[in-house]
Amino acid sequence: MSMELPKRKVALSAAQPTGQLTIGNLFGAIQNWVPLQERYNTIFCVVDLHALTVRQDPQQLRKHILELAAIYLAAGVDPEQSVVFIQSQVHQHAELAWILSTFAQLGELERMTQFKDKAQRHRHNVNAGLFTYPVLMAADILLYGAHVVPVGEDQKQHLELTRDIAIRFNNAFGPVFQVPDPLIQSQGAERVRDLQNPAKKMSKSAESELSKVMLLDDASTVLKKFKKAVTDSLGEIRFDEINQAGVTNLLTIWCAATGKTREEALHHFSHNLYGKLKVETAEAVNVVLDPIRNRYRELMNDPGELERILHKGAEQARERAEHTLVSVMEVLGLPVAHRKVSSRG
Ligand code: TYM
Repeated sequence: MSMELPKRKVALSAAQPTGQLTIGNLFGAIQNWVPLQERYNTIFCVVDLHALTVRQDPQQLRKHILELAAIYLAAGVDPEQSVVFIQSQVHQHAELAWILSTFAQLGELERMTQFKDKAQRHRHNVNAGLFTYPVLMAADILLYGAHVVPVGEDQKQHLELTRDIAIRFNNAFGPVFQVPDPLIQSQGAERVRDLQNPAKKMSKSAESELSKVMLLDDASTVLKKFKKAVTDSLGEIRFDEINQAGVTNLLTIWCAATGKTREEALHHFSHNLYGKLKVETAEAVNVVLDPIRNRYRELMNDPGELERILHKGAEQARERAEHTLVSVMEVLGLPVAHRKVSSRG
């Protein structure tokens, strides 16, 4: 008789294909996904439907979707261990999002800081999708019974809303959803800041190129951007988010890139000047980015292989998503007989 292995918990995360990724996305999220593959049943999604909340050029979007999937793989996501797929290829996300929108309150959605930020930045296009965006994110997570969701600090509020929606649904209709926990690694960089304006998070949509370090920037560009990073005139290297946000950001990035602790960073840079901190941070980042850039180029040279991986990922995702969606529909009293996979399958 074969012994059944204990079932692994599910870890799920995602990023939007809204342009090239920054080191914020890497150190705040993707880098933390990789070791989870050893312990969890891991699922990583390219959330292209989310990207539509801001107007996209179709050709660019098509390109960015594949590029993002290639970045996942280049950064160490292993398609043999993880399900890697594109959100729009699994129609259950949109279906569950509709259902969950009837469990989210307007007031809750109005409180979302990302909505408030984006509504400010895209005043000409404050569409309903921008508003209900966190509900689609809840669907992404709840469809797969995710136990943990590794994200950067900026997504914590969305995770809390996901939990609230799941709990509300379960209270009304029984324990259908796993209530997920955010996983915000303290060792990683929970919030990488804009190099020119460290009061803000580093964002792929920042206008100034000097504000953000892209994963595919070449080594000399990375060095140039760090050399121009804003610091202060205090001349001391220490962690102080209030008075020395720029220096703190460089130290945080150095820690994330080297895997060293804050104490080790302070020891390493004691008696140093800002110039050295900037150059060494750039060098540490380049050590991490070099193999990613190389693997990325290889993957993009073989689009057939990438598409095969994504096709297989979508099939695996669809099966699991359908299972959950059918359970949800059944408890709500919606007809399911016509759906191919039974929830009890
Ligand atoms: P997105 O695409 O903006 O970012 C992807 C991941 O990168 C993290 N991140 C950062 N971490 C640290 N410092 C930064 N400067 C920084 N910028 C971005 C984000 O926290 C995120 O983990 N709503 C999500 C996408 C999403 C999702 C999901 C995530 C949709 N459905 C389901 C998890 C699970 C977003 O916009 O991420």
